[in-house]
Amino acid sequence: MKLLVCGGAGFIGSTFTRLRLKDHGDEVTVLDKLTYAGREENFHDIAEKPGFRFIRGAVEDREAVTAALDAASPEAIVNFAAETHVDRSIAEPDAFVTTHALGTYVLLEAAREHGVRYLQVSTDEVYGSIDAGTFTEESALRPSSPYSATKTGADLLVQSYFHTYGLPAVICRGSNNYGPYQYPEKLIPLMILNALHGDSLPVYGDGMQVRNWIHSTDFSRAIGHVLEHGTPGEVYNAGGPDEEANIAVVRRIIELAGARDSQIEHVTDRPGHDRRYSLSSEKVRALGWAPQVRFEDGLAQTVEWYRENAWWWEPIRSGDYRTYYERQYGRSLQP
Ligand code: NAD
Ligand code: DAU
Repeated sequence: MKLLVCGGAGFIGSTFTRLRLKDHGDEVTVLDKLTYAGREENFHDIAEKPGFRFIRGAVEDREAVTAALDAASPEAIVNFAAETHVDRSIAEPDAFVTTHALGTYVLLEAAREHGVRYLQVSTDEVYGSIDAGTFTEESALRPSSPYSATKTGADLLVQSYFHTYGLPAVICRGSNNYGPYQYPEKLIPLMILNALHGDSLPVYGDGMQVRNWIHSTDFSRAIGHVLEHGTPGEVYNAGGPDEEANIAVVRRIIELAGARDSQIEHVTDRPGHDRRYSLSSEKVRALGWAPQVRFEDGLAQTVEWYRENAWWWEPIRSGDYRTYYERQYGRSLQP
């Protein structure tokens, strides 16, 4: 296939791009604004591969999107482009509204005009929090944060383009991803790097919030399945095989990284913090997908990856991330 992958320089987008180039022989053009979270380093092993093309540009920029479509002549647009950190959405929601609402709108218009299929990468956070049981695709949408509310708005816009204009669009909603190349503002890479540096491990509130962990290669494969076999107009959830409370995840990381329990510090909770996410993935499983990586194994591999790839995270830890960290956590990172 020929694909235009928007937001492909980020954590999951680059994982998906790598998978499609290497395992499927696809031609992939990435359109990415390169925000703090998007990095050309994420293409270090695929940049020279035939079929790969990178264009810097924003999804809300009509000219950039048209130029990318002209260059790629894709059969489908896959949209990963997003601001993705809940804490940043609470502090500064602006870019979340622009990228998710306006950006998705511009891409949908372009897909309609050029007659190409469209896949929106979405999140379990659109359903809100669930104390017991699992969310299905029929569950009500009850987003809690500016991040999830704007992602929900984007999903609804995508569905409106299917119903109104017959655009062949699908949505794939994932649970919490982890794996290599994840920016260290998120729980798992933040805790791994802090553990390796002997720094404190900031657990929000009591740490009993539960997340449904999926490896980024499993989520990328699910997106591929939905792209190839999904029915236009439908939503597909893709959740990981394991759920775990944050404090248990942090304890696993402490053990894997050779850190100490005394590094754990319970800090002020996130405002409006969702207590638990849990997804039923029956619908995408019926398309032939199943997660392959158990959390225990994937987490151990991920800790090893961060241990062995300081070239990837050192420039982040010594740059603007330090300022972000001080603002968010009220303390400096260890050098
Ligand atoms: P990420 O923050 O690592 O990457 C986002 C990418 O989007 C970056 O490369 C960034 O430069 C790019 N981008 C941001 N705004 C843009 C714009 N206006 N125009 C063009 N590019 C822009 O995020 P991620 O974790 O890889 O998430 C990718 C997608 O998957 C998002 O849509 C997110 O909502 C969804 N998702 C993430 C998770 C998760 O746990 N990380 C789970 C489910 C769904
Ligand atoms: O569920 C899918 C979503 O998962 C994606 O849509 C989002 O893009 C992605 O960021 C992620 O959202 P979360 O808010 O669940 O992820 P985060 O890594 O920020 O936090 C995971 C849990 O860990 C959450 O309960 C908050 C907690 N946490 C997080 C950080 C960064 C802490 O206790 N301490 C921290 O320092």
